[in-house]
Amino acid sequence: MKTTAEIRKSFLDFFHSKGHQIVDSSSLVPENDPTLLFTNAGMNQFKDVFLGMDKRPYSRATTAQRCVRAGGKHNDLENVGYTARHHTFFEMLGNFSFGDYFKRDAIHFGWEFLTSPQWLGLPKEKLWVTVYHTDDEAYDIWHNQVGVPAERIIRIGDNKGAAYASDNFWQMGDTGPCGPCTEIFYDHGDHIWGGPPGSPEEDGDRYIEIWNIVFMQFNRQADGTLEKLPRPSVDTGMGLERISAVMQHVNSNYEIDIFQQLIAKVAELTGQTDLTDKSLRVIADHIRSCAYLIADGVIPSNEGRGYVLRRIIRRAVRHGHLLGAKETFFYKLVPTLIEVMAEAGKQVQEKQANVEKLLRLEEEQFARTLERGLALLDEALANVKDNVLSGDVAFKLYDTYGFPLDLTADVCRERNITIDEEGFEREMEAQRSRAQAASRFGVDYNNVIRVDGVTKFEGYTEVESLSKVTALFHDGKPVESIVAGQSAVVILENTPFYAESGGQIGDSGRLAGQGFTFDVKDTQKYGQVFGHIGELTQGSLSVGQSVNATVDAQRRHQTSLNHSATHLLHAALRQVLGTHVAQKGSLVSDAALRFDFAHPEAITKAQLFEVERIVNQQIRANNPIQTDLMELEAAKAKGAMALFGEKYAEQVRVLTMGEFSIELCGGIHAERTGDIGLFKILSETAIAAGVRRIEAVTGENAITWLHNQQTLLNHSAELLKSDVNSLAEKIQQLQDKAKKTEKELLALKEKAAMQAGADLAKSAVKIQDVSVLIHQIDGVETKSLRVMVDDLKNQLGSAIIVLVSVIDEKINLVVGVTTDLTAKVKAGELVALMAQQVGGKGGGRPDMAMAGGSQPENVNKALSVCSEWLHKNL
Ligand code: SER
Repeated sequence: MKTTAEIRKSFLDFFHSKGHQIVDSSSLVPENDPTLLFTNAGMNQFKDVFLGMDKRPYSRATTAQRCVRAGGKHNDLENVGYTARHHTFFEMLGNFSFGDYFKRDAIHFGWEFLTSPQWLGLPKEKLWVTVYHTDDEAYDIWHNQVGVPAERIIRIGDNKGAAYASDNFWQMGDTGPCGPCTEIFYDHGDHIWGGPPGSPEEDGDRYIEIWNIVFMQFNRQADGTLEKLPRPSVDTGMGLERISAVMQHVNSNYEIDIFQQLIAKVAELTGQTDLTDKSLRVIADHIRSCAYLIADGVIPSNEGRGYVLRRIIRRAVRHGHLLGAKETFFYKLVPTLIEVMAEAGKQVQEKQANVEKLLRLEEEQFARTLERGLALLDEALANVKDNVLSGDVAFKLYDTYGFPLDLTADVCRERNITIDEEGFEREMEAQRSRAQAASRFGVDYNNVIRVDGVTKFEGYTEVESLSKVTALFHDGKPVESIVAGQSAVVILENTPFYAESGGQIGDSGRLAGQGFTFDVKDTQKYGQVFGHIGELTQGSLSVGQSVNATVDAQRRHQTSLNHSATHLLHAALRQVLGTHVAQKGSLVSDAALRFDFAHPEAITKAQLFEVERIVNQQIRANNPIQTDLMELEAAKAKGAMALFGEKYAEQVRVLTMGEFSIELCGGIHAERTGDIGLFKILSETAIAAGVRRIEAVTGENAITWLHNQQTLLNHSAELLKSDVNSLAEKIQQLQDKAKKTEKELLALKEKAAMQAGADLAKSAVKIQDVSVLIHQIDGVETKSLRVMVDDLKNQLGSAIIVLVSVIDEKINLVVGVTTDLTAKVKAGELVALMAQQVGGKGGGRPDMAMAGGSQPENVNKALSVCSEWLHKNL
């Protein structure tokens, strides 16, 4: 029996033997496509190739692509673990032709791989196929060339309610590459319920789609029309777990080798002995998506991709609790996962420490939200109306605190409270539609400037070239010529201008020629051509004209220093903080550099100094910065650092700085590390959970920064009449002095207030024969107010004294009642009544009570409430 790892390898070997290049799976975070949540099909990394906007050195490729479908329309998280084939993570085996072979070979390849005894050797009679209803060509190939009997070939029409909306018409999204497809089904046998595709029982588990072969022919436009692709292509996808289930003679994907081993491990870690428990499947599924997502740079958070990851982790952890896990367990599955994934496990293995750490932290954190969730539920239950807990509280518990509805219901039931399940469902539905919206492709690929051809880039060695205009765009539309004052994008045949990529900004400069000047403000890539963005300041310019293209060399030079420094910084961070430090983004301009990277905690000052010290040490080493072109595999073997999700050509540019840094990079760099001159970190901050950002400067900019700092220090020293070295000491002295003065001032103020208070006895009034003194005297602390009240009691003999004082937005209330009157008025009650008016609380003995308050704007109200009360009660 073939293992899943063997099937994966056979597939790639088979297509390799048919002239296909084996291409690595791309990252789960789709490159250059912020609208696609996760990579969800093998073709994602090739979409620009299908559209003719990107070219590869090969025209046939094969991949085993890791995919995640979670939180979107393709997969409801709730189902995973409870059905035979829902997963958050799966691998898609695929073969691709970019304008090379088409229907005939695609079908023959598929059939040979599935049925030849040399490969999978499946019985032919168990295979059924579907074709798009009008695709006679595919039908003919299946029937007349392959020999599939007519009763096992089913034509499927537009069964999804619109033209080209069909199970047999595959499209990437609302726009983009699409085409009719033919699907291969496997009949698991009549002991399982279900009917062939197209029949009313097609949703049963008997006939299972195993392979989808898409004939990519069109580019769907935003208005729904189909535009022919430059070259008809092929995109196929076969779910590895499904074909494994077929080959291993099991009906549920969860029974294949990979899942059985993972399930056994989950059972061991949680102490569960019933191996059919669905929670085991949930966890076995979830560790795959979670570990790979983290390995691909996703970090649990509250939004976007990070939020989907967080929900999956919490769902797994919650199921762990259902199984009786006593301690943090989820991350302990990682070693087993790496093992069962074999060849495909390397991706996680390289990041193992970080994957485990983030999973552990997230699980520990969830343990804390669990408690907070319970507290929230308690509070909500105390305020519940009509014995029904509202749907949004239940939803909030579910969504934010990870509480399953039934757990919430259990707690409610003990108090005879039910849940508004409809309200919960409504919130749930709203959440689902939000998730659906997030999972759709939203990019209109036709909206961008499209030019055939390739601009030759000469900027690695030149800052000036002679070239020719091949196209002009004004207001996003192609034009033949432009005149002075118009802004435009100029496409050149060859150029020394670097187009923005890899974090490095695009060059600026000038295009000039006979009677015209075009100021280039920025340079961008459109597919394979370079667009020079700017304004014609003089003359006119037409397609076909010769231009002298000159880069702003000074700006370029400063940018290159920052770019080289970024590589040194990356290597130094890995040395100081650990190899989990992975680049999450960068921006390299002439002014500064910015480097974002994954690191789960704050960086200490000492670590930062160390990083800065190492980078500057490397600068002083003045190593040559060497560029080599080599095969991707050779570069990887050399240990070159490559970025997550970056797409690299076969020949890659490898940048080496001594022994210290080796990285793949297409950017422009200094000649020697010494050119950088000086490296100074300006700031280090957190920009998202687990992602830090360092901003730094180099060369002249670093010197200027140091000068500015020096000037600032000198100026401060002058102001303090000190020298720079004793600045800290001097500031400390001044602070101490200021504190002392402040204290003295306060004491004086209080003394003055109390002196004024000594005369207060005169202001007492009579309410029903009782002496009452109500007075506001600001700036006095409670302690002193009490002394004043005692003093006034002595002076007045028999009285009720109420003093209020506001200090720094804070209110102090003191009430004193001489003992002969405490039967009528209790100081504690009166002060409590007043405190209520100013947002405070208080109380005390019947003869002396105190309170605080925080709403000075209500002091007058408190005073009048007090006086009214006394009038009423005396
Ligand atoms: N793109 C197609 C799919 O995802 C075939 O790979 O099914």
